[in-house]
Amino acid sequence: MNNDKILKDFLAKDKAAELGGGTRKIEKQHQAGRMTARERIETLLDKGTFVEFDKFVTHRCTNYHMQQEKIPGDGIVSGYGKVDGRPVYVYAYDFTVFGGSLSLTNAGKIVKVQTMALKNGAPIIALNDSGGARIQEGVDSLTGYANIFFQNTIASGVIPQISAILGPCAGGACYSPALTDFIFMVNEKSHMFVTGPDVVKAVTHEEVSKEELGGAYTHNSKSGVAHFLGNSEEEVLMGIRELLSFLPSNNLEDAPARPAVDDVRREDERLTDLIPSDPNVPYDVKELIESVADDNYFYEIMPHFAKNVVIGFVRMGGRTAGIVANQPAFLAGVLDIDASDKAARFIRFCDCFNIPIITLEDVPGFLPGCTQEHNGIIRHGAKIVYAYIEATVPKITLILRKAYGGAYIVMSSKQTGSDVNLAYPMAEIAVMGAQGAINILYRNADDDRKAKELEEYAANFANPYQAAEKGYIDEIILPRQTRFKLIQALEMTQSKLRTNPHKKHGNMPL
Ligand code: HXC
Repeated sequence: MNNDKILKDFLAKDKAAELGGGTRKIEKQHQAGRMTARERIETLLDKGTFVEFDKFVTHRCTNYHMQQEKIPGDGIVSGYGKVDGRPVYVYAYDFTVFGGSLSLTNAGKIVKVQTMALKNGAPIIALNDSGGARIQEGVDSLTGYANIFFQNTIASGVIPQISAILGPCAGGACYSPALTDFIFMVNEKSHMFVTGPDVVKAVTHEEVSKEELGGAYTHNSKSGVAHFLGNSEEEVLMGIRELLSFLPSNNLEDAPARPAVDDVRREDERLTDLIPSDPNVPYDVKELIESVADDNYFYEIMPHFAKNVVIGFVRMGGRTAGIVANQPAFLAGVLDIDASDKAARFIRFCDCFNIPIITLEDVPGFLPGCTQEHNGIIRHGAKIVYAYIEATVPKITLILRKAYGGAYIVMSSKQTGSDVNLAYPMAEIAVMGAQGAINILYRNADDDRKAKELEEYAANFANPYQAAEKGYIDEIILPRQTRFKLIQALEMTQSKLRTNPHKKHGNMPL
C-alpha cells in the first residue's frame, strides 16, 4: 500500500466520522429546527479554529448487540478552539448518534477536555442535546456522568464553565449544567427536567407539558436554573461569545480590558431627576446602569428571574465590572428569597474571577410574610451577607435612595467590608422609612402630632448625612457625575490586596 492510498483511506474515514449518525439523521435534526453538533461548534468558535479530539473513539458496549453498531466519535464532538482569539474548550452532544446518549467512552472524551481546560486555564463550553444515560450501557453510563460531575465541581471557581441546552436534557444529566456557572436555553427547543411529564403524571397526577415543566422560559423565569433565554441556537451561541468577552480565562487572570473609547468623565444630566423624590415612586435602575456604563451597554444576566434585583456585567473605563442593583420598578426592589439567591451566586462568581462589584442600592427591606419566612428568607437572605463579606474583590456601593434596616447592612455596607461607599444626596439611610417609624414610636398620638413627628424624622433620618457624619459613607456625590465617581473608585481599588484566613472552605448557608 503506498502513502497515497493510506492518506485516501484516512480522509475517507475522517469524512465518514463527521457524518455522525448519517445523512438521514442529520436531515431529521435539521427538520426539527436544530443544528448538528459540528454546526454548533463552527458557529460558536472563531472561523477555522476548531481542533477535534477523539474523532475515532467508539463505545465498547456489547449488550443488545451494540458491538455491531459502532459510530466513530460515539456521539460527542469535542476539542478546542478560539473565541475572540482566546482559547476555549468545547464539547457537543451529537443527537444523531444514539440520541446523543452518554456512554462510558464518550464520557471519557468529555472528561478529557474538561481536564485539559482546567490544566491549561481556559473556559469550557458544553453544548447539550441528549437523551441522557445510554440505556444499553447500564451502570457504565452512570459512571460516566459521575466522572463529568467530578470535573465540573473541581473546576468550579478556577475556569468559567458555560452550558447551552439546545435539545433535551433529562434526569441526572441536568446536574452537569447545574454545576456550571451559566446556563443558556433556546426558547421552545430545549428542555431540562429531572423527571419528564409522564413520570410526573404517574407520581403526582399533575398534567403538564414539557414546555411548562422544563422549557426555556420556565427555567429562566420561575426556577432560576437558567440564566439566558435565546430565540434561536444562533442567538444562544452568540450570547456565549459575548459573555466570554467579559470574563478572564481563569481565576488567576483579570478579565480582558478594552481600550476605553467612551469618555470616563462623561456626565449625564438626566440622572439628576431619574430618582423621584417621593420614596414610593418607582423608576428603572437599568436606565442608571446604562447611563454610567461604557457605550451605555449593560449585559444583563437572568433578566426574567427575581426582577427585583438586577445583575450583569458592564465595562467601566474598558474594564469589566459586575453590577448588583435593587430594582425599584419591580416589587419596589424588595429583597426576597429568589432575589437573595440570584444576587449571592453572582457576587460569588465575580469574586471567583477577579471581577469588581458595583452595588447600586435602593431597597426598602426584606419582603415580609409567611411564604417568605416559612421558605427560609433568613437562610437565603444570609447568603447575600455571606457572599459580600467573603468577596475580596473591590466592592463599591452607591446608595441611590432607600437603604433601610437589615437590607442596608447586607447590600455591601461599609461594615461588611465594602471598599468605597458613596451616596446620592437623596439617600435615606435609616432603620426604616418615616411612616413606619412614626407609626411605631407615636402609635397613640393624634394625627397632627404624627404629621409633625413625620416631618422631623424625615429631616433627621431620611438623608445620608447621619451616616456620612460617622464615616459610614465616604462621599456624597452628584448624580450626574456617577460614571466618573464609580470609575475613580474602581481605579483606586484596582490593586486591592486582601485575602481571607486559610480554610478548607466556609460553611455558607445554602
Ligand atoms: C440510548 C437513546 C436514548 C438513550 C434516545 N435514544 N435516548 N438510545 N439511550 N437514553 C435513541 C432512540 O432510541 C432513537 O434511536 C434516537 O436516539 C432518537 O430518539 P427518538 O426517541 O427517536 O427522538 P425524539 O422523538 O426526538 O425523542 C428524544 C427523547 C427520547 C425525548 C430524548 O428519545 C427519550 O425520551 N429518550 C429517553 C430519555 C431517557 O429516559 N433517558 C434516560 C434518563 S435517566 P433510533 O435508532 O430509533 O434513531 C438518565 C440518568 C442519568 O439519564 C443519571 C446521571 C446521574
